[in-house]
Amino acid sequence: MASDADFAARVIAWQRRHGRHDLPWQRGRDAYRVWLSEIMLQQTQVQTVVPYFERFTARFPGVSDLAAADEDEVLHLWSGLGYYSRARNLHRTARIVVAEHGGEFPRTQDALAALPGIGRSTAAAILALAHDQPAAILDGNVKRVLARYHAEPGWPGESTVLKALWAHAERLLPQREVRTYTQGLMDLGATVCTRSRPLCAACPLAGDCAAHAAGTVGEYPAPRPRRTLPERRTRFLVLRDGQGRVLLEKRPASGVWGGLWCFPELAEGKAIDDAVRALGHAPRGAPATLAPLTHGFTHFRLTIDPVVVEVDNSTLEVRENEGLRWYSAGDSTRIGLSAPVAKLLAALAIPSAD
Ligand code: ADE
Repeated sequence: MASDADFAARVIAWQRRHGRHDLPWQRGRDAYRVWLSEIMLQQTQVQTVVPYFERFTARFPGVSDLAAADEDEVLHLWSGLGYYSRARNLHRTARIVVAEHGGEFPRTQDALAALPGIGRSTAAAILALAHDQPAAILDGNVKRVLARYHAEPGWPGESTVLKALWAHAERLLPQREVRTYTQGLMDLGATVCTRSRPLCAACPLAGDCAAHAAGTVGEYPAPRPRRTLPERRTRFLVLRDGQGRVLLEKRPASGVWGGLWCFPELAEGKAIDDAVRALGHAPRGAPATLAPLTHGFTHFRLTIDPVVVEVDNSTLEVRENEGLRWYSAGDSTRIGLSAPVAKLLAALAIPSAD
């Protein structure tokens, strides 16, 4: 079980020996450079950020240079980093810092978090990295480290899970060497406690990591739960003639499976015999029901009950112009078949052309 003993001391010692020390924002750390790098790193990897950070700080060495710039130029220098609201907020924050804080970033977490684009964790990172001031961070990497160390169940997007992770982050926070500790947690998450193939053998926390002890590191943090989709049910009418051919119908261009060939759908409550007759055929024997198929759409799950009805050749009628066709194993025409239809054809031993 996680004991918390020496947690911070181990992270700090590890950072000194194995952490990253040569990132450009670690040179001449001040609140402006830390803030700029943290905003750039919010949704972007370190190796992508480095050249942008260098260009930005060459053009805007301080917050007043950024505040004085045109938004167009800021957005231009941001081009390629994505998530452009970050750049717009960056520019707004620079102007607020100059206009309302005398060109100095505030030194409290609340005042920092009140600035556009700065959340609780980014505010804490600025205090910890620029001023060595105790403030707990919880970015994506740190969530993963703490979720594993404590085997904290649940998806961190869930407020109760997030609350538990923040509580761990606050409790584990040391009062001294906060800069090294904070950088250590970030580095550990980025280089050792990685999302896939974590290097637990190299981890200073492995000795009392709850997930490591249980052999369940890969299960934390839990992924975003799949939404439970509404269920719908329908029937497919599989008309099969004496030669083993089946009747397909072209779907209207719009809607589900638009333009694809499909078995005719049996509307709810519609009698099978009536539907067969409406298609110009007479059933030979009783309908047979096959095992249901399920198919996932973005917004619902569909369960399909296939109903097979044998019909005589004699009543056979091809009505291509009405969007109906007989389809057989030997049919080499490449037509669009929806996934459940292709599955059903295979189940009926009617291979589809590829
Ligand atoms: N990711 C977020 N902040 C970082 C930092 N200061 N160094 C390295 N990676 C980071």
